[in-house]
Amino acid sequence: MHSEARFWQNAIEHWYAANKRELPWRGIADPYKIWVSEIILQQTQVAQGWAYYERFVARFPDVAALAAADEAEVLKLWQGLGYYSRARNMHRAARQIMEQWQGRFPDNYKDVRGLIGVGDYTAAAICSFAYNLPCAAVDGNAYRVLSRCFGIDTPIDTTAGKKEFAALAQALLDKDAPGLYNQALMDFGATQCTPQNPRCTDCPLAGSCAALAEGRVGELPRKEKGAKVTDRYLYYIVCRTAERVFMRRRPKGDIWQGLYEPLLIESDAPLSFSALQQRLAELLPPATSLRPVASGITHRLTHRRLVADCYEARLPENTETQIAGCSPYSREALEALPVPRLVEKILQKALEKQ
Ligand code: ADE
Repeated sequence: MHSEARFWQNAIEHWYAANKRELPWRGIADPYKIWVSEIILQQTQVAQGWAYYERFVARFPDVAALAAADEAEVLKLWQGLGYYSRARNMHRAARQIMEQWQGRFPDNYKDVRGLIGVGDYTAAAICSFAYNLPCAAVDGNAYRVLSRCFGIDTPIDTTAGKKEFAALAQALLDKDAPGLYNQALMDFGATQCTPQNPRCTDCPLAGSCAALAEGRVGELPRKEKGAKVTDRYLYYIVCRTAERVFMRRRPKGDIWQGLYEPLLIESDAPLSFSALQQRLAELLPPATSLRPVASGITHRLTHRRLVADCYEARLPENTETQIAGCSPYSREALEALPVPRLVEKILQKALEKQ
């Protein structure tokens, strides 16, 4: 394996020298900023994540600043990125670092891996980029490149697959320059060996790529379970007076925990208007009328497609009590609440006409 690994490292690093992307979290050694960038990039493309990264580190330049913030402000900065548990976990981990290490970012794999929300990949990325520790960072890019180049069809979402790819990645890692090598492999996957339409015709590894030789580039990497997508029907009722909008904070244990939303009825099957009215009868004041505002707004999550309808419910001007667990907010206070992207759209539609 030794000479094969050398050949491999040279090819990847040579490619990188000519093709690397200049990114704001490159060429820095601050583990905090690297951590922030890696958490953002876990489920977000570089193009979208860039501006979020810049805003996040400008507002929270270090662990102490993040730890001192309110969760709602952290979520507000994250608004639109999705997978909000990433932000909540990072906020909790910042407090963990303050308590356990007096604010000093941990500097070894075991302790970094012990941070809330940090898995094998992220720990390896932080340790190799910030400290040049010899940890192979196996992200989706690495799975794709390795499965194709070495013709491995073990599914990557199985225990056996994870073990096999981790061992191969570690054997191929350039132990003399782990940070550089990991970045190189990642960029190679992101821009050369892409999921769709990989650029095999100008690929420096084309001569030794098993998948290309066997005509299997499009089949690899393999996954055992296809992502099953189910529909879920959401009925948002924007309860409001002229001055105030009623919102509630989403509870623990579901998506969008800690984010805010109007009164919501959820269902696995579409509800008729009368079924919806029945569900609302005990939640709204008697004789509240519903004005349809939008219907069929769809929103994709990993395993779900959300289909949302929205109604406006005008309440008497002096309503100041809670409505179905929702509290009244002025327009200004509403602006500051963290909300999912879908709710942002719903509110725009419900509030655009007075
Ligand atoms: N995706 C995940 N981490 C990345 C990084 N450090 N650079 C570019 N893309 C990435």
